[in-house]
Amino acid sequence: MFNTADDGEHARLLGQAQLWDRLTFRRLEGLGVGEGSRCLEVGGGTGTVVRWLADRVGPTGGVVATDLEPKWLRTVEASNVETFEHDISTEPLSSEAYDVINLRLVLMHQADEQAVLRKLIDALVPGGRLLVEEYDMRSLPVCHPPDDTWHTVAGASVELVNAAGADVRLGVKLQGMLEGAGLLDVDAEAVAFPRRVPDIQAWRQQFVEVGPRLVQGGWVTAEQVDSVIARFDDPNCDLVVYGPTLVSVTGRKPE
Ligand SMILES: C[S@@+](CC[C@H](N)C(=O)[O-])C[C@H]1O[C@@H](n2cnc3c(N)ncnc32)[C@H](O)[C@@H]1O
Repeated sequence: MFNTADDGEHARLLGQAQLWDRLTFRRLEGLGVGEGSRCLEVGGGTGTVVRWLADRVGPTGGVVATDLEPKWLRTVEASNVETFEHDISTEPLSSEAYDVINLRLVLMHQADEQAVLRKLIDALVPGGRLLVEEYDMRSLPVCHPPDDTWHTVAGASVELVNAAGADVRLGVKLQGMLEGAGLLDVDAEAVAFPRRVPDIQAWRQQFVEVGPRLVQGGWVTAEQVDSVIARFDDPNCDLVVYGPTLVSVTGRKPE
């Protein structure tokens, strides 16, 4: 639905990454990422997590960062980072090569999520850890005070993602998927960060990008999209929205 190499999309992805990074960093810390760890980040996007990992693992560790479109990952300057253009759905990974593998908001774009999970688990050393984070998008329309236009346009965005073939409830399914794939100590946490709309400018871009498709699909009117975008441009707008919920799930490969 989005063109990752585009500058506007970069701004959207960066805003999204910065919102979730504190959760992701805490979860990676909990997995024991530290000096000497060998890490793989799949679909690293703008590279915020790769930079953090590179710092943590130090010169004795290493980070492999992949993406279908690695344009932004290649801006990460660290001697312990290797970046590859790589499709996690169709290309292989080395077996038993990594202590920790993480991916955030990548699985939802893959046709066969289970096959990708199996490939990632194969790439972990015995005892290695996996962190997978995906949305449950159903919280997107939640807001206060009640706002019919927000509710309609945000709800239509969820419908659009669904119609594009992505699973808008993938987050809530992850725990069962990781357990079913044989991981141990599976631990799930779900987080949303309610925000005043003018304080989450990166999300404005999302409505700018998908707005025309929402109108074209007959879900909403152009006036409704413009009205939502206007809320982002009004510094006094006091509408608080939940946004999507990020479900963060960890597991350990058996020894
Ligand atoms: C929503 S962005 C998330 C970026 C980053 N993980 C984050 O959370 O900040 C999805 C990323 O996954 C990448 N991606 C999608 N399908 C992929 C695939 N099959 N293999 C590798 N990367 C993929 C996209 O290019 C994009 O950078």
